[in-house]
Amino acid sequence: MNSHVQQPSHPQPLCGALVVPGDKSISHRAVMLSGLISQRNHVSGLLQSADVQSTMACFQALGAIIEPDPTLSDAYWITGPKALQPHSAVLDAGNSGTTIRLMSGILAAQPFTSTITGDASLQRRPMGRVISPLSQMGAHITGQQNNTLAPLTFTPNPQGLQGIAYTLPMASAQVKSAILLAGLFAQGATQITEPAPSRDHTERMLAALGVPITTHGNTITLASDHPMGLAHCPAQRWQVPGDFSSAAFFMVAALLTPGSEVVIQNVGLNPGRIGLLTALQSVGADITIQNPQTVAGEPVGDLRVCASRLRGNVTLDEPDIPALIDEIPILAVAGIYLDGTLTVRGAEELRHKESDRITAIQQAFDALQMPFEATPDGFTLSGDPQRCLPTPATALDACHDHRIAMALAVLNHVADPTQTWSIQGREWVRISFPTFDDVFARLVQGAAHV
Ligand code: S3P
Repeated sequence: MNSHVQQPSHPQPLCGALVVPGDKSISHRAVMLSGLISQRNHVSGLLQSADVQSTMACFQALGAIIEPDPTLSDAYWITGPKALQPHSAVLDAGNSGTTIRLMSGILAAQPFTSTITGDASLQRRPMGRVISPLSQMGAHITGQQNNTLAPLTFTPNPQGLQGIAYTLPMASAQVKSAILLAGLFAQGATQITEPAPSRDHTERMLAALGVPITTHGNTITLASDHPMGLAHCPAQRWQVPGDFSSAAFFMVAALLTPGSEVVIQNVGLNPGRIGLLTALQSVGADITIQNPQTVAGEPVGDLRVCASRLRGNVTLDEPDIPALIDEIPILAVAGIYLDGTLTVRGAEELRHKESDRITAIQQAFDALQMPFEATPDGFTLSGDPQRCLPTPATALDACHDHRIAMALAVLNHVADPTQTWSIQGREWVRISFPTFDDVFARLVQGAAHV
C-alpha cells in the first residue's frame, strides 16, 4: 500500500434540513421571459450566482429594469421594455452556456445589431449548434472560426425570421430553447425533434404564458398562430424551485457518509433532471421524495437522503444522459464507493461543458490513484465501498468548472476527512452555488437550516 494512503477514517455525518439555492436553468429563463414581457413581473427564489447575474446584466443592457424585492430574499421585480433596446457594447455571458445560447435565439430576432461573448471557457464551447438552426430560420449570425465560436454578432434580417422543422443532432435544452425563443418572433410554426428528451422548462414556462406549444413524444411544436414575442403577456409571478443539480452534491455526500440523514427541501424534480435519483435508487440509495407538489408548473418535493450502501452495476446509455448530464461528475464520485461498476456511454456532450468533464474527472482520479477508464463518450470505473484514496500530492484541478470543484469537495469529505485538499479553482462554485461551502459546513455540524 502506498505510504500516503489514508487508513479508513470516519467523516462526520451530514445531518439536518437544508434549502438549496434556486434552479439555475429556471432562473435564467425566468429573467429572460420576464425581460421580454413589458409588465412588472415578480421572480422569487431566483438563484443569485455569477451565471444568472450574466443573464440579468444582458437584459438590463437591453432595457429591462431589474429591482430587488426588499420584502423577500432572492426575489426581484423585472420589467421588460416595450421592445428590447439596441445596446452598442458587447453583451457578456460570462461562463454561462445557457445565457449565450438562449440569448442567441432572442438576439437573432431583433431589429438591431448586437454582439455577445463570454469568458475564455465559453469562447471555446461550440456555438455552431445554435447558429446553424437559427440561420435556417433566416438569422444573420457571424462568429469566430468559421461561425462556430463566440463572440457572435447578430445583424437584422429585414424579412424577419421564419419558423422551421428541425431535428436536433444532440439532445440539448439550450439549443431547443434558443430555437423556441427565436420561433416566438418568427412567422409560421416551429417544430423541433430531439433524439432524447432534454429538460423542458422552456416549454412549461411558455405554456404558462398561453403560448400555443405542445409536445408529442420527442417533438415540440410552437403553433403558427402564436403572437409575435411576449411583450403583450400579462405580468407574471414566477416561483423558482431549489436546484436538483445543486442538491445532487449533498445527496451523494449524505449517501456516502455513514450516519448521515438530510432533508433537502423544495427541490425541483422535473423528469428531465432527476436521472441521478433513479440511478442511485437502482443501486440501493435510501432516498425518498416527501411533500410532492406542483409549483409554477414544475414538480417539486423534499428529498430525504440517508447514508446507504450502494450495490450493483450502473450502466447509462445515450438516452439516459440528458436527465443527468450535469450530475455525472458527482455520480463518478459515488461510483468510487459503489459495490459494482459504473459505465457511462453516449455522453460525448460531457466534453463540451464548462470543461471537458471526462478529462477533468480522469485527471483528478489519476492524481488520487483511482482506476478510471475514459472513452471518447464516457468512462467505466469499478467501485469499492472500502476504497482508500491517498491525499493528493499536489493540488487537484477543478478545470475552471463549478461542478468539478463541488464534486471534488464532496470526495475530499468522504475520502480524507482529516485533510482539506488543495483544489485549484475551488472558487468556481460561485457560478451556480456561491453558498456551497457554508451549507456543507452547517450540515456537517448537524445544525443546518439555511
Ligand atoms: C441547460 C441545459 C444543459 C445543461 C446546462 C443547463 C439549460 O445543457 O447541461 O447546465 O439550462 O438549458 P445542454 O442543453 O447543452 O445539454
